[in-house]
Amino acid sequence: VNQLVLDRVLKKFSELTSHNPVTIFSPGRINLIGEHTDYNEGFVMPAAVNLGIYFAIAPRKDQTIHLHAVDLEDTYITTLSELTPLVPNQWPNYVLGVVSELVNARYDFTGFDLVFGGDIPVGAGMSSSAALENGVAFALNELYDLGMGKMEMLQHAQLAEHHFAGVKCGIMDQFASMMGQKDHVMLLDCRSIDASYHPLSLAGYELLLINSNVSHELVSSAYNERRSQCEEAVSVIAERHPDIKSLRDVSPEVLESHKSALDPLEYQRSRYVLQENERVQAMANALQNGDAARIGQLLNQGQDGIRYDYEITCKETDFLADWSRDQSYILGCRQMGGGFGGCLVVLIRGEHKRSYVEELNQAYAKAFGQEITAIDVSPDDGTRLL
Ligand code: GLA
Repeated sequence: VNQLVLDRVLKKFSELTSHNPVTIFSPGRINLIGEHTDYNEGFVMPAAVNLGIYFAIAPRKDQTIHLHAVDLEDTYITTLSELTPLVPNQWPNYVLGVVSELVNARYDFTGFDLVFGGDIPVGAGMSSSAALENGVAFALNELYDLGMGKMEMLQHAQLAEHHFAGVKCGIMDQFASMMGQKDHVMLLDCRSIDASYHPLSLAGYELLLINSNVSHELVSSAYNERRSQCEEAVSVIAERHPDIKSLRDVSPEVLESHKSALDPLEYQRSRYVLQENERVQAMANALQNGDAARIGQLLNQGQDGIRYDYEITCKETDFLADWSRDQSYILGCRQMGGGFGGCLVVLIRGEHKRSYVEELNQAYAKAFGQEITAIDVSPDDGTRLL
């Protein structure tokens, strides 16, 4: 527990109300491999982490919702009968979206006071939005005894993202944040929504996150565009193979045999997704075998895939990845998450971390006039009561 952040949240809560709050932690996530495969019913390998969002919440007798974001020093007040999305990218959307899903699912509750704050960077590909959505679902379930299991909560959280944030995301972020297990990554099958857990042991190496501190606009439109390119490819292939429902069902041979029928870009996107699914499986083996070199190689191949085929990187993260890859003490790295900025996940020998971060920071500043932030994380348990 980050006591500093929790204390800040509790202090603010006691300034705003005289009630005793329920306190909850909801983590962000990393993703080792498996990018943009989730909405194609493929495989991903994420983990919840020790950074996330802390919530203090108490019920109100009336219908009003009082929200306060400690980090932004921003308050938002509304009522249960006025649940509509605000303009995009406004933080209340992630809270109100979940409330709205629960109201639509006919859960019965009154208003509440909610204060939250966190130690996870926003827009860095670490799923601060899923952490927030999950925390709200978990908090309301706790407060009002709604009887939801974690699986149901995270599905409402995902739909909140669709309906209030306008991003047609897959299940990975909400699942990873809600269902994490300390010291483990999960291999999640995004079709059956079944996960197996694997110890994250890296044979003398460590994972380090490097935040590029850029997050380019249009992320949601580019994201939704990638998703529809994949769906378009599936619909073309399904004309001849009606049993094919998603790229999960498409083998490399079937994809090749439809190459001429597909739009070149849709073919390229689909090929990436098929290869990335294979990398997730290969990563599970590499972890099992403690084969750090192979883990690094798969990270690099993943980076090449999202850079050249899926085209969701940007010049800043390309630069950071290229520079890092050249170091002998780094086995591999790649940009993590939805795309166009955010964090790199780097597989590095621990004793080189300090000098690496210093030198990379200098090179980055010279190239872009920007600083990086290094973030140490470890896999941790999912959304929980404190
Ligand atoms: C975002 C989405 C996820 C997933 C990743 C890319 O984080 O929310 O569902 O698609 O991008 O892997």
